Amino acid sequence: MTTIIPLPAQIQLDERQFCLNPGAKIIVSNDSAEVFWVGSSLAAKLRPATGFALPVQIGTQPAAGDIFLAFGADDPSLGEEGYELFSTPEAVTLRAAGAAGLFYATQTLRQMFPAEIENPLEQPNLAWTVQCGHIRDIPRYAWRGMMLDLGRHFFSVETAKRLVDLLAYHKVNVLHLHLSDDQGWRIMIESWPWLALHGGSTATNGDPGGFYTQDDYRELVAYAAQRYITIVPEIDLPGHTNAALASYEELNENGVSPNLYTGIKVGFSSLSVHKEITYQFVDDVVREIAALTPGAYFHIGGDETLSTSEEDYVYFIERVQKIVARHGKCMIGWEEIGKTKLNSDAIVQHWWNKEVTARAAAQGAKIIASPAAKAYMDIKYHEHTTIGQNWTGAYTEVREAYDWEPVEILEGVAEESILGVESALWTETIFTRGNLDFMVFPRLCGYAEIGWSPREGRDWESYRQRLDEHGKRLANLGVQFYRSEQVDWQ
Ligand code: ACM
Repeated sequence: MTTIIPLPAQIQLDERQFCLNPGAKIIVSNDSAEVFWVGSSLAAKLRPATGFALPVQIGTQPAAGDIFLAFGADDPSLGEEGYELFSTPEAVTLRAAGAAGLFYATQTLRQMFPAEIENPLEQPNLAWTVQCGHIRDIPRYAWRGMMLDLGRHFFSVETAKRLVDLLAYHKVNVLHLHLSDDQGWRIMIESWPWLALHGGSTATNGDPGGFYTQDDYRELVAYAAQRYITIVPEIDLPGHTNAALASYEELNENGVSPNLYTGIKVGFSSLSVHKEITYQFVDDVVREIAALTPGAYFHIGGDETLSTSEEDYVYFIERVQKIVARHGKCMIGWEEIGKTKLNSDAIVQHWWNKEVTARAAAQGAKIIASPAAKAYMDIKYHEHTTIGQNWTGAYTEVREAYDWEPVEILEGVAEESILGVESALWTETIFTRGNLDFMVFPRLCGYAEIGWSPREGRDWESYRQRLDEHGKRLANLGVQFYRSEQVDWQ
């Protein structure tokens, strides 16, 4: 039985084994820097535990004992992200038409070795075997995301990069950064520097704040891109804006700035929809962030605007939509933007209200499924979980996080309109890297499988058993995951 997560679309394994030995090489078929990097990154993952040299070389075929990365467009049906893996006692061959697919093949191969392969320390006297067989694997959904809320608590570039590595390991391809909220503004905007300097100076509970400089953000975007992860920046508008309102008095209706906010209420703040300075502000922010972001998307938030009238909301979103388009990005918003007239390329992120989401889909918007009751990782696993919340009215154990289906959740949305799945970590109660690990893992593994694996192959019992072994991999990677009683964790 395989233990790979997410489960590959097609997999046939037999009883034979390939064994990685000290003289093995990693051969790449193509001398492009990108493909060579994929080979090098695999070598870098396999070297610490094995202690082998694993030189990376360009070549046309593997010698006995090698791992061969065959890159080329000879099978376009694999798409950009699909791959094949052939494992025989002589060699392992990874084959893909796109570099992302080749990278995903290497993630699968990592998961075919014993779990100790992820140990950062050399593990002598272990046989580094891989079961023989054939895998052909293509993702179900184009969008396989996770959102990290940096507004309520700030996380360093190092912590975000570590998260990127863990997302890539599970073939997740979007990291959505919630960069602003009532409690904090987390990216330097050079034309409005007090947003970060003042608005970023604190966090929920009065905890330390912080923000990304533009160089920090560029570094994170590039690190993610190299791992085939698109960064989607979100500036939440027109509500969730207390940090901005506190930083610039002219953005306030009455010209007076509120204090910084460190509580956890929502819905009390709003930009001044009828002041022209507001649109200058939005234009500057979108322009600066768009220029730093190679990805196609800009997320404008648009949720929980309880202090903005419906009429003002529609006026505001439709103006902001034009600003986002002018800066060359495709607009994403939370489902509430379905109440406005959307451009044909708009993307809507469902979190709560199925009826508003269906209205967006009826306008032609593509939908990302992030149902709070299933995909929100701020929700406690059970009543005794010490961090987290339960505002959804229920708990989200590992099974509840896995055992749902986007097509069934999104009533009134045609299957073709579903772009994919995104889980979300809201961080009101999440402050340390250990908190983050505990709330994200292992739930993230389940969301990754919902996004990647064919619907018909998904099954809780199979997943539960694979997760048991996968837990050893996570532990070797240093992830302080939640050891749910629903899983054996032998
Ligand atoms: C949200 O949870 N307010 C998007």
